Amino acid sequence: MGVCDFLILAALFTVASTQFVPPYTEDCRSDMYPPKGPTFKAAVNWYTVDLDLPPSKRWSTLITEKKTELVSMIQAIRDLADAFVPSGRLIELVDITLPLMADTLPEPFGDEIKGIAAASGVPLGEVVLFNIFYEVFTVCTSVVAEDNNGNLIHGRNLDFGLFLGWDIKNKSWIISEKLKHLVVNLDFKRNNQTVFKSTNFVGYVGMLTGIKPHAFTLTMNERFSLDGGYIGILEWILGSRDGMWMSFLTRSVLENANSYQEAKTQLSLTKLLAPAYFILGGNQTGQGAIITRSRLLSLDILELDLKLGRWYVLETNYDHWKEPFFLDDRRTPAMKCMNKTTQQNISLNTMYDMLSTKPVLNKLTTYTTLMQVSEGNLESYIRDCPNPCMPW
Ligand SMILES: *[C@@H]1O[C@H](CO)[C@@H](O)[C@H](O)[C@H]1NC(C)=O
Ligand SMILES: *[C@@H]1O[C@H](CO)[C@@H](O)[C@H](O)[C@H]1NC(C)=O
Ligand SMILES: *[C@@H]1O[C@H](CO)[C@@H](O)[C@H](O)[C@H]1NC(C)=O
Ligand SMILES: *[C@@H]1O[C@H](CO)[C@@H](O)[C@H](O)[C@H]1NC(C)=O
Ligand SMILES: *[C@@H]1O[C@H](CO)[C@@H](O)[C@H](O)[C@H]1NC(C)=O
Repeated sequence: MGVCDFLILAALFTVASTQFVPPYTEDCRSDMYPPKGPTFKAAVNWYTVDLDLPPSKRWSTLITEKKTELVSMIQAIRDLADAFVPSGRLIELVDITLPLMADTLPEPFGDEIKGIAAASGVPLGEVVLFNIFYEVFTVCTSVVAEDNNGNLIHGRNLDFGLFLGWDIKNKSWIISEKLKHLVVNLDFKRNNQTVFKSTNFVGYVGMLTGIKPHAFTLTMNERFSLDGGYIGILEWILGSRDGMWMSFLTRSVLENANSYQEAKTQLSLTKLLAPAYFILGGNQTGQGAIITRSRLLSLDILELDLKLGRWYVLETNYDHWKEPFFLDDRRTPAMKCMNKTTQQNISLNTMYDMLSTKPVLNKLTTYTTLMQVSEGNLESYIRDCPNPCMPW
């Protein structure tokens, strides 16, 4: 049993001790797109981030506009920390120790995070915490598929907030609900030209979901392992800083790599602070891959292979050559729906249908993003999972 299995069991007991939650699955959904109905909360708005500005100023406009939502989410994290360790000591520790960490982060990330703290009025240590958080509490589904005409479609559900406070009355995760108000689409520009686009949470400078138009698409899913994020983060704090934060690497790849091959090389070879899955789509037939990473190296690369009938690659949070943990099997239902759809009928519509099928859609799902590299298109939707629905 891995860390993840253990943590999920712990979460299950937390939830099950307060109410009975049966595993909830359903038949593959259809006709969900364009998004509508109770699983669709809102379309995500666009903002521009100007890479020509100094890092400390890039986020100011966005942060100023979304300050209320950001402060409300940070307050929810404070409340949780206080419930966990009463007397405010945990947040006190964060406020004292983590600001030092901002100075150890590589550029432009350190300065961007300081700029976010300045613009929002949130203490620097808490913004640092928020940026580290994602490296620890994300579970997701990502898929790259190729249609009959060689077009690549990349879809993902971002599920975030596991263990972060189950609201018994609302049957929802407190932090996941808060985060839904912070989802934005970002257009990163240099010289007034789009360099890449992403779906992000306001206040977070790494990338979990992004596209370099006409070149490649990229998502990251967490890979749990004993030698995981906690140890890498601890080593970072203790001064061993040769590994890269995972979501900083994805951001750097989106910004600097210019092709599928280049992105694949960087994602495979850069030393990381924690294990991860990178799901990469290119702009030509056969260019889709799941890169399974340990901290040091790429353990496995599974690519599209049409000759073998592999017209899609799909990743949740388990190594593809192993069975998923039985209490958290989103892979089998997702693959069942992909197989039922067939390559002939894969499209934004049918991919959205798959990503709308419980438990691929669950209580942690904050957003669904669909990307089409040939069109340079990224679109995302904030999601809800009405009851009955799996907590993860
Ligand atoms: C519970 O849900 C209701 C309606 O969706 C909302 O108004 C309320 O703020 C939620 N409570 C909490 C604690 O999130
Ligand atoms: C930036 O590009 C947009 C359209 O792409 C144009 O309307 C605008 O005038 C440009 N701004 C500058 C400063 O060049
Ligand atoms: C695919 O990407 C490569 C590298 O960026 C580029 O040279 C090529 O023109 C792209 N092809 C298409 C069809 O966009
Ligand atoms: C989906 O199809 C693939 C390829 O044929 C097969 O390996 C896999 O077992 C199928 N999965 C499900 C859940 O139907
Ligand atoms: C293809 O997908 C659409 C939904 O987008 C569905 O209405 C249609 O029945 C599907 N066609 C086939 C042949 O499965």
